[in-house]
Amino acid sequence: MEFLQEIQRRRTFGIISHPDAGKTTLTEKLLLYGGAIQEAGAVKSNKIKKGATSDFMEIERQRGISVATSVLAFNYKNKKINILDTPGHKDFAEDTFRTLTAVDSVIVVIDVAKGVEEQTEKLVEVCRMRKIPMIVFINKLDREGKDAFDLLDEVETKLGLRVTPLSFPIGMGYNFKGIYNLWEQNIQIFESTDKQKIAKTIVYDNLEDEGLEDAIGDQSMAELKESLELLEGVYPAFDKKEYSEGDLQPLFFGSALNNFGVKELLDCFIEIAPAPLPKSTDKRIIHPYEADFSGFVFKIHANMDPKHRDRLAFVKIVSGTFKRNTPYFHVRHKKKLKFSSPNAFFAEKKEVVDESFPGDIVGLHDTGNFKIGDTLTSGEEMQYKGIPSFSPEHFRFINNTDPMKAKQLGKGIDQLMDEGVAQLFTLNLNGRKVIGTVGALQFEVIQYRLEHEYTAKCSFENFNIHKACWVRTEDNENKNYQDFLKVKQKFLATDKKGQLVFFADSAFSLQMAQQNYPEVTFEFTSEFG
Ligand code: G4P
Repeated sequence: MEFLQEIQRRRTFGIISHPDAGKTTLTEKLLLYGGAIQEAGAVKSNKIKKGATSDFMEIERQRGISVATSVLAFNYKNKKINILDTPGHKDFAEDTFRTLTAVDSVIVVIDVAKGVEEQTEKLVEVCRMRKIPMIVFINKLDREGKDAFDLLDEVETKLGLRVTPLSFPIGMGYNFKGIYNLWEQNIQIFESTDKQKIAKTIVYDNLEDEGLEDAIGDQSMAELKESLELLEGVYPAFDKKEYSEGDLQPLFFGSALNNFGVKELLDCFIEIAPAPLPKSTDKRIIHPYEADFSGFVFKIHANMDPKHRDRLAFVKIVSGTFKRNTPYFHVRHKKKLKFSSPNAFFAEKKEVVDESFPGDIVGLHDTGNFKIGDTLTSGEEMQYKGIPSFSPEHFRFINNTDPMKAKQLGKGIDQLMDEGVAQLFTLNLNGRKVIGTVGALQFEVIQYRLEHEYTAKCSFENFNIHKACWVRTEDNENKNYQDFLKVKQKFLATDKKGQLVFFADSAFSLQMAQQNYPEVTFEFTSEFG
């Protein structure tokens, strides 16, 4: 197939939701349509179950699963679909945010009964700010839930989206009769409830079709007609350009578990979702169809086998063709690297691959060369931008509890930080090491992994800090900045890249610092790399 066609047929996206809304179930049903799996239940949930916070083996087991489900690829109607897994657990939100830098679009899953939940709000906000095209899927229509119009309102107000419903439910819960598909202009009646297979549906072409009224009853029929009139009057018509630019979000209703409304979502998705998009570097914008290969690392996964310290770096290909055994330029290290066994991902397995195209993810075995945000190119010196490192919210001092293993501890911390598990800061005043994380669960992961993978032991000590922010100024000599350095000496630290960080011990002290030092810029994200 031609290079251009290969690019045009790729759809790389992420599914985001609050835990339990049905992300795993939906993913599984999508794979089922792609023929990638035959039975539901093949994809294991990559969620850290509630209450598992002190179960180390559980964390380890989940990590294993998440390698397997990091990228799920399948073919459907001659489109190559790459689903990038995004952990729903809030303590792993940073991982999700970084994965969102590698997707070209997103599907947002919402539980019909719970409506818009906290984690969805946060993730959608990031997508909205980045103008990522989004499709919304309201799930669990087989359950009693909120009124469809109320939900549309909620999605618009809480998520700040402008929706255009492309399907609409006929009834709900016990009374769920089917779906009016505005995209394909037909009506599908919910019949079979075989949860493992693709549900059988009866399709009617329009409201006047014989048998429809009998199938859903005259009351549902009247309600449907009324709803459709309202929909037409209130919601904007679908416009592909607006969707692509992140200004309009198509919305579908269905039930992932019952496999209802999923095919409609998928069929629309492959039509409208964008093929791989251009991406900015510090030098210029790179287009997917450029001949030279380039890509960036958005995720690193440690090998599950503690005897081998090798890791898998996930690279999103932005341009050109990635070829096995070809030397590529590692921009940060300024050296060429060759990969003899790059992995491509299919359904729930990975395989060595000879070539991959823009939109694809390759897994590169790594012994410590990569960190998140690294760029690989055919030779050009440039760095992909926009892979964020978030301001951590939990802080602890890390102490070495086995002095014989100081070296192992240092190496372990270094590598875990490269993987993006947490961030390391060194206090300027006394050189003490502080670990900052987005979620509290990470401390347990760090302690466990240091011990099992690096034979190093550590303990943590609380460090009561409200927020860490990166500090910048236009002019280092400036008196206001110099005063800040002097007065806040005790609260200054350096991150792994040597950037200055300010630890604010309360929201108030952060606010005061911002007020008193106008020459200083306080930033809450920093770029990886
Ligand atoms: P997540 O990945 O977003 O966290 O959610 P997941 O797919 O694991 O789904 C969470 C729960 O919701 C699961 O039930 C799943 O079976 C159920 N679910 C998903 N889609 C639907 C749907 O369309 N209708 C109904 N009624 N339920 C749905 P669970 O009991 O937590 O887990 P399990 O034991 O069934 O796996």
